[in-house]
Amino acid sequence: MSAKIALLPGDGIGPDVVQEAVRVLRVVDVKLGLKLDFEEALIGGTAIDATGRPLPDETLELCRASRAVLLGAVGGPKWDDFSKADRPEAGLLAIRKELELFANLRPAVCFPDLIGASTLRPEVVEGLDLFIVRELTGGIYFGEPRGCEPHDGGERAYNTMVYDAGEIERIVRLACEIARERSGKVCSVDKANVLEVSALWRRVATRVGEDYPDVELTHMYVDNCAMQLVRNPKQFDVIVTGNLFGDILSDEAAMLTGSIGMLPSASLGGSVGLYEPVHGSAPDIAGQDKANPVATILSAAMLLRYSLECLEGAEMIEGAVSKVIAKGYRTADLHEPGTKLVGTRDMGDAILEALDGATGESDA
Ligand code: IPM
Ligand code: MG
Repeated sequence: MSAKIALLPGDGIGPDVVQEAVRVLRVVDVKLGLKLDFEEALIGGTAIDATGRPLPDETLELCRASRAVLLGAVGGPKWDDFSKADRPEAGLLAIRKELELFANLRPAVCFPDLIGASTLRPEVVEGLDLFIVRELTGGIYFGEPRGCEPHDGGERAYNTMVYDAGEIERIVRLACEIARERSGKVCSVDKANVLEVSALWRRVATRVGEDYPDVELTHMYVDNCAMQLVRNPKQFDVIVTGNLFGDILSDEAAMLTGSIGMLPSASLGGSVGLYEPVHGSAPDIAGQDKANPVATILSAAMLLRYSLECLEGAEMIEGAVSKVIAKGYRTADLHEPGTKLVGTRDMGDAILEALDGATGESDA
């Protein structure tokens, strides 16, 4: 039985970084006999150019027939003038919705060797290891009605933030399950002092929390959370929140680590998981062997952990990445004096070399 992995490299640096992650996965495959079977499809701007649509049917079919999806990035200036429904980003939103990926997991870990890369003081971020659980298929991103219309001789636009209790319950439950495997702390973030949606969110979260007496559930307003993240981020372990708040807070959390090029993500919920780096498509450096492939390589590790239940492979990859960072290899985004500047391909090579001879246990 082979495990089919759909590859959606997408736009900009997407193909550069996905290529390296695939090389890493192939090595782990050989070591552990996973029988991975890769198949590529189009998404985003490149899909628009080839088919006229950001998420072609064939792509969706391939994803549905796969065990997991590894995605690079979508978007670029070439498609910036397209209307919202035809933009590359619409492909990403559509695939999340179609595959019912309601949970977006974004770990923000500060690598000990990269402390200097953060704009915050070392003692504030040293040892930072937080985990954002963002609701991904609901809230204001998808709420109806939405639109833009003529109004009073001008225009007005509107969106709807909406959650039903079931949507809130399943994401908070997942966050509690994740917290059980970590420090047992969940902070649910909302704007319950102003929004009805958030008041419901808080009520449901509180109710779910009662099923997890071993998990300490707290609540925080989103504005305060944004402030606390830069004041004292280590007070948090798991943060659970809605789609829009999670979009914003996860970028903030990523930057605490100083290295958005290092951060992976997993989107789960339906039968197929989707894995992608947190960073964007960086069209200015696409195809130039400059992009940092680590976030995508670590996303491949998450793929092994969550979709293939291959903990050993995930830990092998994570161990190899830590080793290479400790050795001082840096792509341009993280390069500082005294470290070794490498391109995308050389970074991949270094990680492959570190994988060689690695076993899950000794390198975890
Ligand atoms: C993200 C991105 C996307 C989002 C965009 C590209 C649609 O910012 O994955 O965080 O807003 O969800
Ligand atoms: Mg975002």
